[in-house]
Amino acid sequence: MAETSRQTALLTELEPVVAQNLDRHLVMAQEWHPHDYTPWSRGRDFAFLGGEDWAPEQSQLDETAKAAMFTNLLTEDNLPSYHREIATRFGRDGAWGTWVGRWTAEENRHGIALRDYLVVTRGVDPVELERARMDYMTSGYDSGDKTPLEAVAYVSFQELATRVSHRNTGKATGDPIADQLLARIAKDENLHMVFYRNLVAAAFDIDPDATMRAVADEVIRFEMPGASMAGFRKNSVLIAKAGIYDLRLHHDEVITPILRHWKVFERQGLGPEGERAREELAQFLTGLDAQATKFVESRDRMRARLQARQDTALRPLPQA
Ligand SMILES: [Fe+2]
Ligand SMILES: [Fe+2]
Repeated sequence: MAETSRQTALLTELEPVVAQNLDRHLVMAQEWHPHDYTPWSRGRDFAFLGGEDWAPEQSQLDETAKAAMFTNLLTEDNLPSYHREIATRFGRDGAWGTWVGRWTAEENRHGIALRDYLVVTRGVDPVELERARMDYMTSGYDSGDKTPLEAVAYVSFQELATRVSHRNTGKATGDPIADQLLARIAKDENLHMVFYRNLVAAAFDIDPDATMRAVADEVIRFEMPGASMAGFRKNSVLIAKAGIYDLRLHHDEVITPILRHWKVFERQGLGPEGERAREELAQFLTGLDAQATKFVESRDRMRARLQARQDTALRPLPQA
């Protein structure tokens, strides 16, 4: 069967699973409102309306929390691109179409809530934020030529990665309101992950070899959607150094639990194509794990050096 018709057949076969998981999602998802999580009492006018424009000292966030909030919000902002990515692959009909709409509406809420919080609390420079949003959305996000199966495999990992990163960003802000907001958003991301993860589980039963191939490829070439945004490199270094999102978390809390859920390494009955994909995946994971260990070790050394320097600086001067 040609690849395109194979993929179309798979989408049709998955339709009842999508319908079932859409129902599950709608029961599980709790309604919430961005305005409830915004400390409006901390807001005031900017210079345009006679108030004062943003200045760095007004932010209560440290550089790491700023970098993480900025990255998370801009990532959420590029929603029209993600909508296009999934709408062109999953279609607009039936349960697939309903899911695409519902998911888009939920994701939009994340961007609204994060922006309201950051602008009201003057957490980041609103001009820099707006300019970065314009650039990032203008260039858009393009996942390449992923098949629908590759796309569902990718978003399973991506939704969980976003959950982990929002959750840890909340803790890093040092503000209980931001923490609560990001924990709320993280819950949504978790439900999104479950939805996609269940579809991939069903795809494993329908076409195990093709699914194993797609999963291996998406793990091996995984990249966060924000990779093309302004300052992404610099910000991801800060985010990794702080342990908000790093290779260790990526390996242990994102990739591994999902692969375990799909019983990727226990599965029987794969053909040669599936076996090859699984071997490549196993080999990649060994490398990723080693890289994660190396990263954490060097971060520990850096933290120890920093601590030693601070201890020296704090030592009382010898008495005359
Ligand atoms: Fe989101
Ligand atoms: Fe999500």
